[in-house]
Amino acid sequence: MSEHNPFPGENNTGHFWDEDLRELTNDPPTWWRMGFHASWILVIGYTIWYPSWPLVSSHFEGVSGWTAIGEYKADLKEVEGVRAPFEEKIASMSAADILKDQQLNEYVQRSAKVLFGDKCAACHGSGGAGNPGFPVLADDDWLYGGTIDKIVETITNGRMGMMPAHAGTLSDQELRDVAKYVTGLNSGTEYAPGKAIFTGKGACFACHGMDAKGMHALGSANLTDGIWRFAPGGEESAYHTIKFGVNVPGNAESRNAVMPKFGGNLSESDIKKLAVYVYNLGGGQ
Ligand code: HEC
Ligand code: HEC
Repeated sequence: MSEHNPFPGENNTGHFWDEDLRELTNDPPTWWRMGFHASWILVIGYTIWYPSWPLVSSHFEGVSGWTAIGEYKADLKEVEGVRAPFEEKIASMSAADILKDQQLNEYVQRSAKVLFGDKCAACHGSGGAGNPGFPVLADDDWLYGGTIDKIVETITNGRMGMMPAHAGTLSDQELRDVAKYVTGLNSGTEYAPGKAIFTGKGACFACHGMDAKGMHALGSANLTDGIWRFAPGGEESAYHTIKFGVNVPGNAESRNAVMPKFGGNLSESDIKKLAVYVYNLGGGQ
């Protein structure tokens, strides 16, 4: 080959194209070689430092002791470190006092939102907006009272409103009359035949009050505000409630209204947080 080499003495490989285009045997540039060596050193260093090579039943754990779960736990500890002072305060304060503390209130608002979504939203809707048959929590209308203490009590012990069925004590006409009376109350019309039953034979006043505004101690709904707790609302729906009652044992047509008890199921701190959250949605009287 060398006899054809037009560039004798040059460090070419003897391959030529287009007469003078040829391949030389120069070393790669220094920068390239440094990069090459740096990269394999890095690879070896990395596999020694971090967990890497698979072994028969485990893996090489690396000399640094780093693990993904360890990093996660360290991060979690940092988060808990930030939360700890808040959580300690919440554990030792009453819900009413938490409510008065601006900073705690904001913290609770954020952490209880998730809790509410997990434990309460299935029945009460997201943000307490209510679902058919489940009371709205984001309004001013309270069956059992909207003070912070009442809300804590409701969540801790649960609630179960009781109203007897009136199918046996009132005639169908009387049931219709009294339903017409109560559903007319929020528009200011007073249906006299129905009122007579409400305040007389039906004895509705005993639980709902003469003014039909309900009593928090019994959870007997306010019937004058046009807010209907049982779907779909309106005269026919009220007729159904009055006829079959609420939570009447053994009566399949009776309205179902059970707020489960969360005491013992959720921590006291979680209950306080939820109470503050619910109060902020629409608490008051
Ligand atoms: C299984 C469905 C269900 C779940 C879950 C549930 N609730 Fe209730 N809740 C009800 C029902 C039904 C009532 C109404 C009880 C009644 O009418 O006597 C109610 C009533 C309430 C009341 C009283 C409302 C008022 O007007 O006085 C509050 C406050 C409340 N729930 C908060 C919560 C919170 C907070 C959670 C989550 C920890 C929760 N509920 C989870 C069904 C539920
Ligand atoms: C023993 C007490 C009691 C008596 C008597 C009673 N109620 Fe009720 N009533 C309740 C309670 C408690 C509720 C709320 C149930 C719940 O939400 O858990 C209720 C709910 C209602 C509702 C549904 C309100 C809504 O928001 O959907 C209507 C309507 C009603 N009562 C009408 C009457 C009428 C009319 C009478 C008389 C014929 C009457 N009630 C007698 C306790 C009573």
